[in-house]
Amino acid sequence: MTASWWKMLRLAAGLLAAALAAVLVGWHSPSGPEQLRRQPRSFSSQPAPGAEANNLFWIIQVSDLHISKFQSPERASDFEKFCAETVPVIQPVLTLATGDLTDAKTEDKLGSDQFEVEWQTYQTILKRSKVMEKTKWIDIKGNHDTFNIPGLENVRNYYRKYSAWKKDGSFHYIHSTPFGKYSFICVDATLNPGPKRPYNFFGILKANKMQELSSLAAESSGSNHSIWFGHYPTSAIVSTSPGIRTAMRSATAYLCGHFHTLGGLMPALHTRHRHGTLELELGDWKDSRKYRILAFDHDLFSFADLKFEEWPVVLITNPKSFLYSSAAHEPLQRILHSTHIRILAFSPSPIKFVKVSIDGIHLGNAVHVSGPLYVLKWAPQNYSEGFHQIEVTVQDASNRNATRLHTFAMEENLSLTFNLLASWVLLTDLYVLVRVVFVLMVVVQIALLVIFRYRGNPTLKRPLGRAMRASFSLHILSKINFFYHSFLLLSFYTLLGPWFIGDIIDGHLGVCFSFGVIVDGHFFEGSTTYLVGIMQVAFFNLPLMAYTCWCLLLRCQGYGFGYYLRHAKQWPIHLSMALLFLWQVYSCFFLLKTYGTVAFFLSPLRLWTVGLTLFLVYRTWTLQSSMLRSFIVEMKNAQSS
Ligand SMILES: *[C@@H]1O[C@H](CO)[C@@H](O)[C@H](O)[C@H]1NC(C)=O
Ligand SMILES: *[C@@H]1O[C@H](CO)[C@@H](O)[C@H](O)[C@H]1NC(C)=O
Ligand SMILES: *[C@@H]1O[C@H](CO)[C@@H](O)[C@H](O)[C@H]1NC(C)=O
Ligand SMILES: *[C@@H]1O[C@H](CO)[C@@H](O)[C@H](O)[C@H]1NC(C)=O
Repeated sequence: MTASWWKMLRLAAGLLAAALAAVLVGWHSPSGPEQLRRQPRSFSSQPAPGAEANNLFWIIQVSDLHISKFQSPERASDFEKFCAETVPVIQPVLTLATGDLTDAKTEDKLGSDQFEVEWQTYQTILKRSKVMEKTKWIDIKGNHDTFNIPGLENVRNYYRKYSAWKKDGSFHYIHSTPFGKYSFICVDATLNPGPKRPYNFFGILKANKMQELSSLAAESSGSNHSIWFGHYPTSAIVSTSPGIRTAMRSATAYLCGHFHTLGGLMPALHTRHRHGTLELELGDWKDSRKYRILAFDHDLFSFADLKFEEWPVVLITNPKSFLYSSAAHEPLQRILHSTHIRILAFSPSPIKFVKVSIDGIHLGNAVHVSGPLYVLKWAPQNYSEGFHQIEVTVQDASNRNATRLHTFAMEENLSLTFNLLASWVLLTDLYVLVRVVFVLMVVVQIALLVIFRYRGNPTLKRPLGRAMRASFSLHILSKINFFYHSFLLLSFYTLLGPWFIGDIIDGHLGVCFSFGVIVDGHFFEGSTTYLVGIMQVAFFNLPLMAYTCWCLLLRCQGYGFGYYLRHAKQWPIHLSMALLFLWQVYSCFFLLKTYGTVAFFLSPLRLWTVGLTLFLVYRTWTLQSSMLRSFIVEMKNAQSS
């Protein structure tokens, strides 16, 4: 139920946002490596990819495991298989688990809490599979791993006890090889203290955290590559100046999770920042069993998003995909200087063949060098102009096939663009967008009330069109003090008032406003709150006002409540309002489940609004006709003229 509620929320926000997108928030989707040459870094064209298994390593990323005490136990058992069987086949030097290791949701999926058994399951899997002996395992926290934690020192911060990495906060891990240094920088934007769901959907980086990240970035400047990783996509991080994307501009890529590829709607949530950094969101383990393999081959970066137990796995490391190339971060000219096409092919069964073709012309089978590396001699000069497509098919001894293809190019002045929607989702500062939309909506509602209150009384003319009826009904509503003040109060309250007071963290009372949440002396800037505010205004405050207008208009035509109940034509309107009202009632229940009994009762915007609504509707139908007299006269004149 909440999953779909949440999906609906996200989808609605997406749609709303799409409408206002480019107008409100300045972003652009840079296309191809061409415009990145503004800050050129000189790269040597040597060493260039050849026939030997050198200057090469690869890592794995997995995200959003959501190991749960209550839901689908296969998540954990498959994950154990992944650690025990998949990782040994791939043999990555490093594995990154980018947050939401545990689900931390209650059985009804509404509430949230830390369950020690989920963490114990996670740790047992790591230990039993001995995966930490086979690869360097780095796991970080996601928002679920920080639900309902009063502080990092608290025992409920099980990450400290049961994870592999154990240390809170951002950090810099260096993978050193004989051929260079590779930096992996973690961005920890999780909240401390950790509120219960849903108000920790966005990460926050305050000034001190940003400074820490800047110094980590400076530390990594001597590395051949920097990869940044975190749980939240940059669009879901509230960060102080100069902004998280600028802070990570020296990174080749930022790896994250959290969005679950929007429930599978956007299978490739990938894009490029203005400075050339790739942002690569990875689908979840939870439902989609996704993982990712990333390779550095002679400092050319490539990756493939994969599904658990789909073998063989293929990754073409030279020539790499043009779309994911960054002239500011990689020595792209090495492709032209290379002597061999290079492919990584993995399978639990022996590989039978690795067939290579370019632009549909079969070039031959790549030969095995060592480990997963296969190479095929080629003449890159033959492809130095324009775009070309490379296609590789691998078959293993169990007769399983896999084909991988991508577009490559060697001219830097060409360009390819990322999916616009994916770029939009990852490059828009969503918290700014929802704030703007929310404030606009409330302002529109208040403006309507005030304008119609102070405009002169209307004169109705025939024919009575829809627009005229609507405007007339707004006049009625705004000019009757009771309704005017009620709706003004509702609007201003939604914008400014405390929405509820309750256990934001168990045993720690906090206050929720549209512009943020306060708990234990900490202020968390509004983000998810605005989204909830948009839903409130769009699906309750505004419809309720429209419904009241409509009812008042009917009253002016001399009809009572009973008359309209007998007329089937009007039912859809009453019914729609009843449904929206039920939704408001449900949101009280949701509040009870998420933030507890105190929140349920001390909730002006939830329980109290339900009361106000009932009173409003009652007053609408019991209002004395004398209060409507001038409008009734006007209506009669118009109808008889
Ligand atoms: C890594 O950087 C060092 C120093 O710039 C360079 O000598 C080395 O060749 C680079 N490694 C690779 C694989 O290009
Ligand atoms: C490169 O192209 C030329 C001309 O089309 C051809 O003769 C040559 O065999 C090609 N070289 C390779 C290695 O494919
Ligand atoms: C795999 O590919 C080979 C040759 O490309 C083809 O003959 C075979 O039918 C394919 N097998 C499957 C299971 O797709
Ligand atoms: C790209 O640059 C090359 C020379 O560097 C030039 O011949 C070619 O026309 C350019 N292509 C485009 C699309 O500008």
